[in-house]
Amino acid sequence: MSTLFVQLTDLHIREPGRLAYGRLDTAPYLREAVQTIGQLRQQPHAVVLTGDLTDFGRPAEYAHLRELLAPLTMPYYLLPGNHDDVTHMRAAFPEHGYLGEAGFVQYKIELGPICLITLDTTVAQASHGALCATRLAWLKKALDDAADRPVVIAMHHPPFKTLIGHMDKIGLLEGAPELERLVARYSNIERVICGHLHRAIDVRFGSTIASTSPAPAHQVALDLDPEAASQWTLEPGGFKVHAWDHERGLVTHQMPCGTYAGPYPFHEGGKLID
Ligand SMILES: [Fe+2]
Ligand SMILES: [Fe+2]
Repeated sequence: MSTLFVQLTDLHIREPGRLAYGRLDTAPYLREAVQTIGQLRQQPHAVVLTGDLTDFGRPAEYAHLRELLAPLTMPYYLLPGNHDDVTHMRAAFPEHGYLGEAGFVQYKIELGPICLITLDTTVAQASHGALCATRLAWLKKALDDAADRPVVIAMHHPPFKTLIGHMDKIGLLEGAPELERLVARYSNIERVICGHLHRAIDVRFGSTIASTSPAPAHQVALDLDPEAASQWTLEPGGFKVHAWDHERGLVTHQMPCGTYAGPYPFHEGGKLID
């Protein structure tokens, strides 16, 4: 089977029993997402988590996250979002050597033929994101090194305007045009995959497609008014399944969490069921 990986994002895990925003227990949603991943007919080779793994970046939240991710049977890779604390994240996952010991959490992973390159868009004590010259220079080198391979770039803050005003105010406020110019110079970048938005959005970006993914628990309300209120909903959550096809390249599916009736056959005896 060709290479397949899941993008799971914005889990916002609290300490056991604590509610996010005073009303949402995010843990059962992650438990259900992990179960759904385990039931995929084609098992992914890896899970890439694009940030906001916890809600406040506290050690007890990471301990809970670790427990909730434990049933995953494939390797998983962590990225920080604006709700994370990198020091506490590293401490809770000491065997995840790719996280490094200090500095930005930027790394490269081989996923079959794909080179996954991650960017750290976090800014200490801030909700918005940034890519400074240091992080972009590291990316340029990583892209040059992977020039003969299909590349997927993963990051938390999307580097594009989403039209959801309150989220754009805490978007990638530094480095987005520079990133787009850099990406435009390479024809082997299959995707830029992002979190932060808690819903699926796709845009053309440089030479590629940039997208965000739903979260397992809460979604950011779809309101394209520039002055939209900052609100969330419990519309169905989910995750992305990115499948590599050697002819087509990366093919991305969106999957809701949970179990549903079916599957049922369309045909019987070679005929469409009437
Ligand atoms: Fe988030
Ligand atoms: Fe975020």
